[in-house]
Amino acid sequence: MAKIAPSILSADFMNLERDIRALEGSGADFVHVDVMDGHFVPNITFGMPVVKALRRVTDLPLDVHLMIDKPIRYVEEFVRAGADFVTIHIEADQPQNTLEALDRIHALGCKAGIVLKPRTPAEAAIPYLEKCDMILIMTVEPGFGGQKFMQDMMPKVRQLRAWMDGINPACHIEVDGGVDANTHILCKENGADVLVAGSAYFGAADKAAFVKLIQGDFPHGQS
Ligand code: DX5
Ligand code: ZN
Repeated sequence: MAKIAPSILSADFMNLERDIRALEGSGADFVHVDVMDGHFVPNITFGMPVVKALRRVTDLPLDVHLMIDKPIRYVEEFVRAGADFVTIHIEADQPQNTLEALDRIHALGCKAGIVLKPRTPAEAAIPYLEKCDMILIMTVEPGFGGQKFMQDMMPKVRQLRAWMDGINPACHIEVDGGVDANTHILCKENGADVLVAGSAYFGAADKAAFVKLIQGDFPHGQS
């Protein structure tokens, strides 16, 4: 069974607590938190105070996706704010600092992972695989919700799943961007087990049914 991580980028920020409660009620597995700095990506969202506030209102795991330059500067603060997973882009700093950042996340008892932008090949992840509890493969250019799913990322998903099966089978393979009631099938067929959904989740009339569909092993949710 796959897990669904709704992205609160598409939530109503004036009613975040209400949306989190609804998210819990719909049976979602994780809360995906997109942190953007206006530098690594051309958009700005929110930071540690919002993670801290979310932590106060929910026990769901907080899956914090850092789209920030040189994340080593802030990873410990995000863990202390209450993150359960912190994922960092391997394009955002030198390898030495990325490795050190993963160690710092783990040292505080938090799960750590890396993220690959669409143009980053699977091979670029190799130096980090042993330190990963999660690998996030972007299926859109990071920065905005509501973009079109990039189907050509599926071989990368499959490759990383295969490598991680040999290194750490418990490692999550997550996809993010354009996941909806159609594209989720390909993601799961290629080995993804955590699916982020922003606009499709928040736009769904029946969120519980959408969650079941994404979690299901079969295309039409009959699992
Ligand atoms: C994009 C973010 C995504 C985004 C996904 O940079 O990382 O998490 O919220 O939104 P949808 O599901 O609308 O593509
Ligand atoms: Zn994300």
